[in-house]
Amino acid sequence: MIFFVQDIVAQLKELEKQRAFDSLVILSDQNTYPLLPGAFETLETKHFHIIIPAGEQHKNLSTAQFIWEEMKKGGASRKSWMVNIGGGTLSDLGGFCAATYMRGISTINIPTTLLSMVDAAVGGKNGINLGGIKNLVGTFHEPEQVWLHPEFLYTLPEEELQNGWGEVIKHGIIAGGELWELSRAVIPPIKETQIWSRLILLNIELKKQIVQEDPRESGKRKILNLGHTVAHALESVFMSHGEYISHGHAVAIGMVIESIAGELASITPTATAQAIIETVAKTFPLIPIARNWEPAFFQAMTSDKKTVAGELQFALPISIGQVIPDQVLSREHIIRAFEIYNKNAAKI
Ligand SMILES: NC(=O)c1ccc[n+]([C@@H]2O[C@H](COP(=O)([O-])OP(=O)(O)OC[C@H]3O[C@@H](n4cnc5c(N)ncnc54)[C@H](O)[C@@H]3O)[C@@H](O)[C@H]2O)c1
Ligand SMILES: [Zn+2]
Repeated sequence: MIFFVQDIVAQLKELEKQRAFDSLVILSDQNTYPLLPGAFETLETKHFHIIIPAGEQHKNLSTAQFIWEEMKKGGASRKSWMVNIGGGTLSDLGGFCAATYMRGISTINIPTTLLSMVDAAVGGKNGINLGGIKNLVGTFHEPEQVWLHPEFLYTLPEEELQNGWGEVIKHGIIAGGELWELSRAVIPPIKETQIWSRLILLNIELKKQIVQEDPRESGKRKILNLGHTVAHALESVFMSHGEYISHGHAVAIGMVIESIAGELASITPTATAQAIIETVAKTFPLIPIARNWEPAFFQAMTSDKKTVAGELQFALPISIGQVIPDQVLSREHIIRAFEIYNKNAAKI
């Protein structure tokens, strides 16, 4: 069940009345713990907090172990529920610990970042990073409930808003229609809660529909990887050169480069690629990518989980509102797409 909650304390009281759990484990990080001051202290049911340090670097086995141990110390049982308050890092970690503690307890996700509201908190995927590989270990564990409260976005740093905005544009390209129009019409930071609510709802409806059709990512769900084959390679190449690019920014550039490559392979129509470039450029700087990064970039791309039998596979738009998975692009198309992207980048 995914729904908007205006008054979190009242919703907690309501949940308590239903007596679905015998205790609550409340997981947050150092930035999200203060977002709901006193909310849980009004509860009569047994509950305890676990607070972890913020950041992706803590989405690992040692934090998971800390959480499991704290759950045990606090007396969490098979009938406890876990409440994850935070962004995607938190819900991935919390979801993983909940899925494995006593072979699985129920969870409620309360997403507090844009990325988690439109993407990470929905769909049941969770996991931790291991040995330098993102999400190497994890499970599918659908949360019992997801509570949406757009007001959390007003304390979110602008860079984190941008991070989520890359996925909003991606969902707009996949869904077309109102979501595409809205993602072109507004630019974050958005001040109106109504606009946020509409955007979040449309994003979630899209993700829910795709996940329902393909819960285990064997077919249709792969279209959610739009922009991500290039993005993941960009993120690791930036990192290996001691530089940083946010995931949202990498996805934005990834969608541009993949659309140009799709156009070169006669899969993506020119007008569609153009519309994507224009929309991305409204919010994200199209920074040039150094030419001497090419070998590292291809190395990163071919070691990606999405490579099948050495072939580079992509989700590509064939129009706004229609993205198809499993499209093979040649190395030549990608190199040429990089050159065209860099030429465009120099102009903007
Ligand atoms: N499971 C999935 O389907 C899925 C999908 C996409 C991404 N992810 C994962 O999500 C993670 C990234 O998530 P994220 O971008 O939400 O980052 P995050 O959870 O690391 O949060 C980013 C930062 O914002 C802070 N923060 C969170 N909410 C805040 C608020 N309301 N006000 C002020 N600060 C706040 C956090 O403490 C953190 O410092 C990655 O690990 C990625 O792999 C998972
Ligand atoms: Zn992403």
